[in-house]
Amino acid sequence: MSHPATRPRRTRQSDAWRRMVRETRLSPDAFIYPLFAVPGRGVRHAVSSMPGVSQLSVDELVKDAKAVAATGVPAVLLFAAPAQKDARASAALDPKGLAAQAICAIKDACPDLVVWADVCLCGATDHGHCGHVLPGGAIDNDSSVETLAQVALNYARAGADAVAPSDMMDGRVRAMRHLLDREGYATTPIVSYAAKYASSFYGPFREAAESAPAFGDRRSYQMDPANVREALREVLLDLEEGADLVMVKPAGPYLDVIHRVREAVTVPVVAYQVSGEYSLIKAAAERGWIDERAAVLETLTGIRRAGADLIITYYAPEVARWLAGR
Ligand code: PBG
Repeated sequence: MSHPATRPRRTRQSDAWRRMVRETRLSPDAFIYPLFAVPGRGVRHAVSSMPGVSQLSVDELVKDAKAVAATGVPAVLLFAAPAQKDARASAALDPKGLAAQAICAIKDACPDLVVWADVCLCGATDHGHCGHVLPGGAIDNDSSVETLAQVALNYARAGADAVAPSDMMDGRVRAMRHLLDREGYATTPIVSYAAKYASSFYGPFREAAESAPAFGDRRSYQMDPANVREALREVLLDLEEGADLVMVKPAGPYLDVIHRVREAVTVPVVAYQVSGEYSLIKAAAERGWIDERAAVLETLTGIRRAGADLIITYYAPEVARWLAGR
């Protein structure tokens, strides 16, 4: 009788065996949860394209930050959609602006919760682009970098535990590091959205952050989804400029990029499971077409297996509760 000499199934026979030989584990320690601040009081405005996610006024945001901290998730990523939007992104530069207020309020209420502040201009500009727009419509790199560094300083002063530039301008990390060091924030880390692709999966987020570009698209600054060598170049450049952590975004369609980056660097690698990745699962689950919990755990395990140390996900508190058996 012929039989296989090797039987990988031997160690798959029971849950106990499978647990013992499992190579990748999920823990709430690896999760970062995005929060969206809007002006007002008592505001909890559901984002229709992201079921379960809301735009929150600062008072409500503090409640959610506390709830997130209670699940064991160690960090949040803060976005702000101020009411006042102009060409210079003044609201993001204002020490009493919405983002600064939100950072301050979360740190007051939950001193141990790590607050990453997303640094970009798109939520505070009337045109919705991530940098300054020149006459004719091009995005001006160097003046944008100056503003972005000022925004980062503003958020560090408000108490952010890290600043996370998501604009994809060239040289922003160096400019930020320089300004933060000069102004007494040498210990504030920079989490660089180093390999951020011009992705169709950001659609739902733009409703939450009110940051859809009024004209054109972001392809002159965000990366072409077809490129991976260029991602390594971006990552290595940002490290040279002083980034402390590097990010690949989106996550699911870019597992090969995460893997290549993981092999190329020694700093922590962050992956962002973006709004579209979240909403796809939500929509299918709502129709009963997919087992939500299983699908979410599978995607997050895949992202970790590819090499991400940390994952930004809208599922963070929910998964933390599942993992704790609650
Ligand atoms: C802003 C920014 C975006 C996201 C994070 N920061 C949108 C964009 O670049 O258009 C996307 C996050 C998500 O889709 O969940 N620059």
